[in-house]
Amino acid sequence: MRPNLRLRATMASSISMCRLHMGGRSALAKCLFKKLDARIHRHLGTNVVAAREEHLKKDVTLTDPVPCPFDTEQRAEYRSFEAVQTERLEQAERSVLISCPKKLNEKNVLAYLSKHGNIKKCFFYENYGIYAVVEYANKDSIASLHKGTAIPSVNPKSKPGTEASVNHGWHTVPFKSRLLSLKSLGPVEGKAGLQFQPQTTIPVNLLVQKLSNEESIGQQIITLREAYQLTEESTCLRFLVCSLLNDIAAAYFPECTVRPFGSSVNGFGKLGCDLDMFLDLDGISGRNMKLPKAGFSLEYQMMQNNSERAVTQNILSVIGDCVNHFGAGCVGVIKILNARCPLVRFAHQPSGFQCDLTANNRVAIKSTELLYLYGELEERVRSLVFAVRCWARVHGITSSIPGAWITNFSLTVMVLFFLQRRSTPLIPTLDHLQGLAGPADRSVIEGNDCTFVSDVTKICRQGNTETAEQLLCDFFEFYGTFPFDRMSINIRKGKEQNKPEDAPLHIQNPFESSLNVSKNVNVVQLGRFVKLCQESSWLLQQAENMAPQAAGGAAAKATPWGLASLLIPSQDANGIRPDQSRRTRRREKSSERIRSLLQSLKK
Ligand code: GTP
Ligand code: MG
Repeated sequence: MRPNLRLRATMASSISMCRLHMGGRSALAKCLFKKLDARIHRHLGTNVVAAREEHLKKDVTLTDPVPCPFDTEQRAEYRSFEAVQTERLEQAERSVLISCPKKLNEKNVLAYLSKHGNIKKCFFYENYGIYAVVEYANKDSIASLHKGTAIPSVNPKSKPGTEASVNHGWHTVPFKSRLLSLKSLGPVEGKAGLQFQPQTTIPVNLLVQKLSNEESIGQQIITLREAYQLTEESTCLRFLVCSLLNDIAAAYFPECTVRPFGSSVNGFGKLGCDLDMFLDLDGISGRNMKLPKAGFSLEYQMMQNNSERAVTQNILSVIGDCVNHFGAGCVGVIKILNARCPLVRFAHQPSGFQCDLTANNRVAIKSTELLYLYGELEERVRSLVFAVRCWARVHGITSSIPGAWITNFSLTVMVLFFLQRRSTPLIPTLDHLQGLAGPADRSVIEGNDCTFVSDVTKICRQGNTETAEQLLCDFFEFYGTFPFDRMSINIRKGKEQNKPEDAPLHIQNPFESSLNVSKNVNVVQLGRFVKLCQESSWLLQQAENMAPQAAGGAAAKATPWGLASLLIPSQDANGIRPDQSRRTRRREKSSERIRSLLQSLKK
């Protein structure tokens, strides 16, 4: 959401909050609010009364919703998840990824590459070498660039023309991709020097120090998000890698689209997170084509299989082979075709991304869009999710290795559920979002109704004014005391429900209600999560941990406090310190705590 949207939304929500507190106290107050209401209505320029009535009809649990805080102009400006994806994919098609020599002059390189057309955007990053992402203004430039690019005929490590290159040289697969190498054929002209865009997060110990210097927990939450969230450049690079994969898959399926999903695009991605990709074959023309009633018609002859899963496995198997044999920069390709969701996993070396390529995984795309929508609705949603995800990762509650841990997806759903359970809910239920959907939003995937509104500006809010700090403290308390043994988490209803099965943690899949997204989690891992929530809640309730001054005055400002103190990994094997050590923990000097943090990171 853009800042001006947020400002107006905040204004409307705070005024509504005042009304809640003061409403009905005096005739004067009533008169004042009537005037204010009229002003807001004029200012926001929407038919808010009608919107509120419509809203109330649809969800009787909403007691005093704030009018939809977006005016016509803002509605026109808003771009849905789909629109953002389409634009970014198109940008990626006009882009190339270039491995560059160590020393180079940016101006000269850009001048050289500009021979093929206007460059719209270019940035550099380091990943065991220097790379440039170059976005041309026009797609024709890519064709021109290809025309002027040579195919290496010998092993670049052995000198061309030598005996070694002929006898022991490697042979190239002449697959032309948009991953190129720039060679410098002479000394660097002008001043060498580049600014690199970060592709990974700063280490946790540095983050802890950074946060310890902040003035409030609210500010710590914002700083953490700014330090960890995906940058514009990292997002561009992710779409570009999808586009490079698209070129490989297009050898078999020219009309396919490889698009990213998961944390790369759901608004909760952290620098360095994996890249989940989806091979989309639904856009292939000719499906549902209207056939003439008389005369002739032509149909493709195609292989058929009575199992959709087998078709997906076969397609992924072939594309996996192509990636393995033809995909420059793609290493460690593994086909995991027997998983619940078949996939091809590999590392894309030039970008440094761990990639998972899936097909026929539309529900996951919908889940991604849903998380994106919730994040767009409220800034505090993203802030809280970032803080909780980072906290969970530091303590080994989540992991990049599959296992009995809580996944980031499950954890995010837990945060959303908590936000729905506030006395004034911060975000609406999925059922409510479904009620607001228009005909274009309708989506049924494999019999599951995945419909929900795609335009965030149609969603009214209830005026929750709790701070991110308050929400973080209450999150730990909420899950430190949650009846996991009996209850299931359900963001569709926004209410806990009786557990339908015996899994330790039950989180209903938002779109496939019979499935539990946290089926993998065992009792030990859930126990660790609950204990850590309790410990974190306890830590945040200690007055000396709640403000930098109380932690030792200005001289000891860098002593971890507030959110920073929660990001110091636990020391024992289970990630939980025994009760006795909790009390001594506060007394530890910052240097000792940072040392222990480094030791546990080494382990
Ligand atoms: P990280 O990769 O850990 O940063 O987070 P992520 O959100 O990308 O999670 P992950 O890579 O595990 O999964 C990618 C996406 O697949 C998620 O964002 C969800 O949209 C979807 N997904 C993952 N697990 C499940 C699940 O159990 N059920 C459903 N419906 N979707 C899932
Ligand atoms: Mg992921």
